[in-house]
Amino acid sequence: MDDQSAPTLDTLTVTEGEDPFERGSEAGDVVSPVHLSSTFALPGLDAEMRLEDVDPDAGEFVYGRLSNPTRHALETRLAALEGGAHGAAFASGTAAIFTTLLASVRPGDHIVAFEDLYAGTRRMLDDVFRARLGVDVTYVDATETANVAAALREETAAVWMESPTNPKLALCDIAGIADLVADREVVFGVDNTFASPYFQRPLELGADVVVHSTTKYLNGHSDAIAGAVVTDDDALAEEIRFLQQVGVGAVSGPFDSYLVLRGTKTLAARMARHEANATAVAEFLDARPEVTDVYYPGLPDHPDHELAREQMSGFGGILSFELDGDIDDAKRFVEALTEFTLAVSVGGVESLIELPAAMTHEPLSPAEREALGISDTLLRVSVGIEGIDDLIADLERGFDAMARSAEPPSTER
Ligand SMILES: Cc1ncc(COP(=O)(O)O)c(C=O)c1O
Repeated sequence: MDDQSAPTLDTLTVTEGEDPFERGSEAGDVVSPVHLSSTFALPGLDAEMRLEDVDPDAGEFVYGRLSNPTRHALETRLAALEGGAHGAAFASGTAAIFTTLLASVRPGDHIVAFEDLYAGTRRMLDDVFRARLGVDVTYVDATETANVAAALREETAAVWMESPTNPKLALCDIAGIADLVADREVVFGVDNTFASPYFQRPLELGADVVVHSTTKYLNGHSDAIAGAVVTDDDALAEEIRFLQQVGVGAVSGPFDSYLVLRGTKTLAARMARHEANATAVAEFLDARPEVTDVYYPGLPDHPDHELAREQMSGFGGILSFELDGDIDDAKRFVEALTEFTLAVSVGGVESLIELPAAMTHEPLSPAEREALGISDTLLRVSVGIEGIDDLIADLERGFDAMARSAEPPSTER
């Protein structure tokens, strides 16, 4: 099939990796069954059979940690969605990131990372890679590619980015950084969780490897913890596969694999709606006098708006904004909402809101939060796919609660 007749992403999300008459489905199941078996009967004691020769693509399975038909269907689909040759599904996004970095560095090596990474990834880099494995880490403001360039060293073995970032939705220039490290022995990884492959495909922009917390948009229904890695690099894929199956073993279980596989089927429909709702919410907030700033790459005054237009095909469903007030105003605002649930995480069909200073970024010191631009009134929302009028009405409820608290106390008895 030539490229012109290759299926679009909208089609790959629905069918890729699932074939009713292949991979252990004798009944012709249209959707991949949940294969719970931990081990698989072998055809015989063939002396020639070596584990590394077992081919899941040919329907061969030996033991559930090594591979499993449901997980394999998911891995095939995720690879196709990111446009890569190899996919691997993990027990969490954290396991996917850990395994990828472990495959990329050795003690004495150095990692350059975006300072604005997911807080859990920063802790992993600091407390596992730096403190336990002897891998140095430099954090940079990667919104300027020159800062990444300045941090590179002889022993830099990995460059680790997210784009857009959490919670300020900053972007880095993925193609620019790929060019920068193209001639070096460096693994360039991008965490594409916030954009999803529907809006951004880092491998096409030159990254070596893409990871996801599939807990978020790829699953989309807030009912599974899971992760994924996709790469086109055969040698890196082999290392990751070895660590996934043997060295670490944090694989995605059959039921979670099934859920994520099912979730991907509606990715295109969900992402389009997430974006439409997020755009409406961003514009609404931008016009409110109680809001000092809105951070959404789709707004023309976002500092990375032009870059977003170049490297993404849409702006996603997550945004953050700052209230004119103090942390008590922010708490009052959040507590008045009934549609936006107060919860961490993003990417589900339901709208969520969180107060980073009191929740995800609370472990950081006030100085660290300030350095990342996380004020006490910064709120992050993951805009769901509910009716937009209901979401706007809910936010108005929050502003009303703030206004009531600002009124002078009544003197009536
Ligand atoms: C951007 C990003 N990467 C990675 C992770 C970690 O994923 P998980 O919670 O699936 O381990 C998260 C979780 O919030 C995230 O937001």
